[in-house]
Amino acid sequence: MSNNALANEIQKRRTFAIISHPDAGKTTITEKVLLFGRALQKAGTVKGKKSGQHAKSDWMEMEKERGISVTTSVMQFPYSDHLVNLLDTPGHEDFSEDTYRTLTAVDSCLMVIDAAKGVEDRTRKLMEVTRLRDTPIITFMNKLDRDIRDPMELLDEVETELNMMCAPITWPIGSGKGFKGVYHLYRDEIILYQSGQGHTIQDVRTVKGLDNPELDDAVGDELASTLRDELELVRGASNEFDKELFLEGELTPVFFGTALGNFGVDHMLDGLVDWAPAPKSRETEDGKIEASAPQFSGFVFKIQANMDPKHRDRVAFCRIVSGKYEKGMKMRHSRIGKDIRIADALTFLAGDRALLEEAYAGDIIGLHNHGTIRIGDTFTSGENFKFTGIPNFAPELFKRIRLRDPLKQKQLLKGLIQLSEEGAVQVFRPLANNDLIVGAVGVLQFDVVVARLKAEYNVDALYEHISVNTARWVYSDDERKLDEFRRKAEQNLALDGGDNLTYIAPTMVNLQLAQERYPDIQFTKTREH
Ligand code: G4P
Repeated sequence: MSNNALANEIQKRRTFAIISHPDAGKTTITEKVLLFGRALQKAGTVKGKKSGQHAKSDWMEMEKERGISVTTSVMQFPYSDHLVNLLDTPGHEDFSEDTYRTLTAVDSCLMVIDAAKGVEDRTRKLMEVTRLRDTPIITFMNKLDRDIRDPMELLDEVETELNMMCAPITWPIGSGKGFKGVYHLYRDEIILYQSGQGHTIQDVRTVKGLDNPELDDAVGDELASTLRDELELVRGASNEFDKELFLEGELTPVFFGTALGNFGVDHMLDGLVDWAPAPKSRETEDGKIEASAPQFSGFVFKIQANMDPKHRDRVAFCRIVSGKYEKGMKMRHSRIGKDIRIADALTFLAGDRALLEEAYAGDIIGLHNHGTIRIGDTFTSGENFKFTGIPNFAPELFKRIRLRDPLKQKQLLKGLIQLSEEGAVQVFRPLANNDLIVGAVGVLQFDVVVARLKAEYNVDALYEHISVNTARWVYSDDERKLDEFRRKAEQNLALDGGDNLTYIAPTMVNLQLAQERYPDIQFTKTREH
């Protein structure tokens, strides 16, 4: 393939994720986006979100839910001469670590806000993560078919709370029962809304020009004149769209609509393919790799149990950073320094897993994993290097894990180490005793671990309370100081699943005191794989 053809394939791609607070409409928007991608004949089949909610600790239910989310966790679809990859982020707060890592694999994000509520908690948290990489953000104000808050106030809130400039691209005409459509500021066009058409791609009626008298006929004199007044204000008071600032993550284009009514989603998609970045470069330990580099490279950001119960394999999700994947190609597994031949990578065409002939930078491929692949692993077409920036987060919840049958200590340790390699949980082995401590970011993770230990390692384990409040990874450039710290603080030190030294603190006060007492030691809340 010529360099030109490769560059064209890569330029066509847009890889993004949706961030939102639960119930803001992420699932609904995903359905409509796929409908536009002509991937689904009729929206409404994405996932049974409600199923399993009453049986959180039921392993089969969880498996089912996880299975469903495997197939929908990456969706590829064509839109307007482009190829879009949408990466799902788990909705449940308990899997937030997974969400964070998924955000390292995208080049832009769609932020969905319930326009009746405004900026909510989880959105705030997720935005902090996208900030770390200055990810460009597109905003969709959802649920315009309900009574919403003053749109100007919503923009203000995004600007002050999320510290990002807003550039309205469309502006709503009414809301709730009186929602009539939007005015597109850059097309100078009114796009009229019809209710009850949410399951289809609507034939929209448009009116060209804000001063067009047809507008008055379409929405009524009063709304039309309010709109004209409002827009004068909006144009004066808000930012104009600026692509550079958008690409730097400093300004977000804002669209209004209703996902349920399938209105406005296409305006957002147009913005995505026109403005959002094509696959971006990624940092390695020795510098950047550009997407246009001819050699294949990629990194694993997520590992998930396969939905097919007949094959208990796991799928590693690999974001291609540069070059092209071809069926049967040899890849270097950089961490273990071995070449492996990949004949059966998976692609995720809008929910269906399919075997893959080729894939390009920006795409996600699924690699079958029989235990040799970890989160953060790098694959290349032969070179040994490592992508950086895929984080582990210090867990916030801890339990001691113990066997019912003490003879299985070895299997328990093996299972825990493997599950921690997957990122399902974190495990800590204190230096001073034989305890095994499991650390999680969300409470549901504990149940998953016990269920999977039983199903996959035939180990019956249970939890006990332990008074650990927080953990930090510890480092020092000064070997001597680190040795001294190791000796003096041994009672509070442990090794994690990857043998990294960790400080386990019974209370926050204890942690603070340790930090003051050992100023040459760095205590960190995140660790890169
Ligand atoms: P999530 O994935 O972000 O959690 O949100 P989801 O799409 O599941 O939407 C949450 C609820 O909000 C759903 O209602 C959904 O139908 C509704 N919704 C989404 N977009 C819109 C919109 O534009 N307008 C209105 N009025 N509602 C919207 P639910 O009653 O919780 O679930 P369901 O029983 O309808 O599925």
